[in-house]
Amino acid sequence: MTWLDAVVVSRTPATPNIAVFDLAPADGSTGFPAHTAGAHIDVLLDQQGLVRQYSLCGPPGSGHYQLAVLNDPNSRGGSRAMHTLEAGDRLRISAPRNRFPLAAARRHLLFAGGIGITPLLAMARTLDAEGGDYALRYCARSRADAAFASELAENPRATLHFDDGDSAQLLDVESALGAPEPHAAVYVCGPGGFMDHVLARAEAIGWPPAALHTERFTASTPDPGSTESGSFTVRLASTGVEYHVPEDRSALDVLLENGVDAPSSCQQGICGECVVRVLAGEPDHRDDVLTSDEQAEGLFAPCTSRARSQVLELDM
Ligand code: FES
Repeated sequence: MTWLDAVVVSRTPATPNIAVFDLAPADGSTGFPAHTAGAHIDVLLDQQGLVRQYSLCGPPGSGHYQLAVLNDPNSRGGSRAMHTLEAGDRLRISAPRNRFPLAAARRHLLFAGGIGITPLLAMARTLDAEGGDYALRYCARSRADAAFASELAENPRATLHFDDGDSAQLLDVESALGAPEPHAAVYVCGPGGFMDHVLARAEAIGWPPAALHTERFTASTPDPGSTESGSFTVRLASTGVEYHVPEDRSALDVLLENGVDAPSSCQQGICGECVVRVLAGEPDHRDDVLTSDEQAEGLFAPCTSRARSQVLELDM
C-alpha cells in the first residue's frame, strides 16, 4: 500500500467522546486525492502496523480530509490511538477507497446510528451540493452524544432521534421508509444492532436487497450454523501453487505467510481491500463488504471467507 503523509490541521470536539480531525498533506501541497461521498481511508496508527479505517465526512473536492472518531471504550486500540492526536501531529494515511458510494437513484434514504453518521453526512453534504433528493434519519443516545447536531438541526431534510427522548420522537423505521420505491436507495451505517434492525424492517416491508446499501465498522458475527468451517486449499491461477488453509487460519493469513503479495487492510471483511475473484470452487462468504451480486459474480474476501469446496482457485 502507498501511504500519504498527513498532518492534523485541527482537532475539534464534536461530543464529549467524538473528535473531528481535519487532515491536510504534510508537504503543504494543494490537496489529497479526490474522494466521493461514502469513501474511507486507512490510517496507520503505530509503528507496529495498527491500521484502522475511517469514513471521510467532509465534502468531496476540498482537498482536505475530515474524520470523526469515537473514543470507544471497547476499542481494539484504534480509536484510543486516534484520540491521542492533536493539531500539528503527523500520521500516514491511504488514498480513499469507496465501498459505500451513492447509488444512481432518484431518492436517497439515509439511516445513521451513532458514529455511523460519518459517511452519511458526506452523502448529505454531497446531495445538498448537487440538489439531490434525500432524507436523513440520525439516531443517537442523547443530544449530547450526537455529532454535528447543530449542523443537522438546521437541515430540513434531517431528523434526529434520541434514545433518551420521549417515545414519539424515536425512529419508526417503517414509516421513515414507507413502501418500496422503484428508484430509491436506502443507506444504513451504525452499530451492528441498529443496522440489523433497520435492514430487517426494510426487508419486512418489501424493500429489495438491491436497494439496501450498508457499511459496517465492525464485522458481524457469523451464524455458526450457516457455514462450513473446515480446512481447504487455495490455488493461485498465476502460478498454480496450492496452499493449505487450516481450520484456524484465514486464506489471507496463509497467503501472506507464504510471501504472496496479497493486498489487505482491515482483516475483518469490512474494507474490501483484499477482494479477489474466484475462478473455480465454491466460496463460503463471511464478509460484510461484498453485495450479494458481487458474491454471485465470483468476488471473494480471503481475510474472512472460506470454502465449501476442497479447492478454491483465485485470480491472483
Ligand atoms: S482485508 Fe478488509 S475485507 Fe479483507
